Amino acid sequence: FNTIDDLDLNGKVVLTRVDVNVPVENGLVTDATRIEKIVPTIKDIQSKGGIPVLLAHFDRPKGKRVDSMSLQIVLPALEAALGQPVKFSDEAIGGTAKRAVADLQPGDVLLLENTRFYPGEETNDATFAASLAALGQAYVNDAFSAAHRAHASTEGIAQLLPAAAGRLMEAELKALDAALGAPQRPVVAVVGGAKVSTKLDLLGNLISKVDHLVIGGGMANTFLVAQGIEVGKSLAERDMADTAREIMSKASGAGCTIHLPVDVVVAREFKAGAENQTVPTDACPADAMILDAGPETVAKIRTVFESSRTLIWNGPLGAFEIQPFDAATNAAAQEAAELTRAGKLISVAGGGDTVAALNKAGVSGDFTFISTAGGAFLEWMEGKELPGVAALQKR
Ligand code: 3PG
Repeated sequence: FNTIDDLDLNGKVVLTRVDVNVPVENGLVTDATRIEKIVPTIKDIQSKGGIPVLLAHFDRPKGKRVDSMSLQIVLPALEAALGQPVKFSDEAIGGTAKRAVADLQPGDVLLLENTRFYPGEETNDATFAASLAALGQAYVNDAFSAAHRAHASTEGIAQLLPAAAGRLMEAELKALDAALGAPQRPVVAVVGGAKVSTKLDLLGNLISKVDHLVIGGGMANTFLVAQGIEVGKSLAERDMADTAREIMSKASGAGCTIHLPVDVVVAREFKAGAENQTVPTDACPADAMILDAGPETVAKIRTVFESSRTLIWNGPLGAFEIQPFDAATNAAAQEAAELTRAGKLISVAGGGDTVAALNKAGVSGDFTFISTAGGAFLEWMEGKELPGVAALQKR
């Protein structure tokens, strides 16, 4: 696909799809990471003489104007990140948007209102895409984290204008390719989270691509059940036991070693500071639940990391949101960070919970790459084609 370097942007209005769908509490942005990550693209467009007009969604207003989901909410954080004022149009298309674009001077940045206020955005309506495209002369997509959506501002518009990937999109694709496309082997994937059922496609794709698969979190319990191990009151999908067995047998046929916990931290209550004990995996008391992997498991994971060259991580190993059940996730994260700092490991992580867990462990700065994407990262790891990326490649 094209990058910003391949397009002539001089004197052009550049419709730039960004993802500023950031967490907000009481009207304030609580994590501006996604906003900060789009700055290089906006600056590069400006330095090539283009005027960036930002297209973005916020939350899920379902095709209607919802005042609490106006993109005005991100303006202060965007201005702070860019170090310049940002103009705002409270319409994304039509006369108001056209006038806002016509008023732009070189050096300006304009943010258009939430594209999801219009029903044509999510249906990828051709007329809506054309109305967006009519506002500019080039299109840059820097929203990897929204690329799993075939929407007008991510897919339809790319067919209508000279299109290119922005810097963040480029970096995301490069990092993911380094982790799963043409990686340095051995590759270890860490997959955690609550349920096997929501990550079936992911597990299926990974076993044919990675050498080691570390399974953690609630989903590990389902694999333990599949091996006939009693897990007491732990979260487990007993009806997925057959599926888990199938995954294990396919993995061994594909040369992928699956690593399950060998010891676990159990408690009788799901709450911070709950009284707990560490037991071998087959010794979970009937009235207790598994809330984390134990130290022996962490030691095993450390050995796997040490023998690997590439790590791709999605999902925490335990109930990382409550202490002390974040211990295994933190320890594994720290080990990955250390090996990465020493130049021994290429480490890539993504997904909302995962990034929160790595931030909490204080190591996200040490990873080779942390994706800004949640759903898109997962779909990419599942081996699915992302419509927003495919639309750039077709050109
Ligand atoms: C995200 O937050 O993962 C992206 O902005 C996509 O949002 P969506 O899941 O509402 O499409």
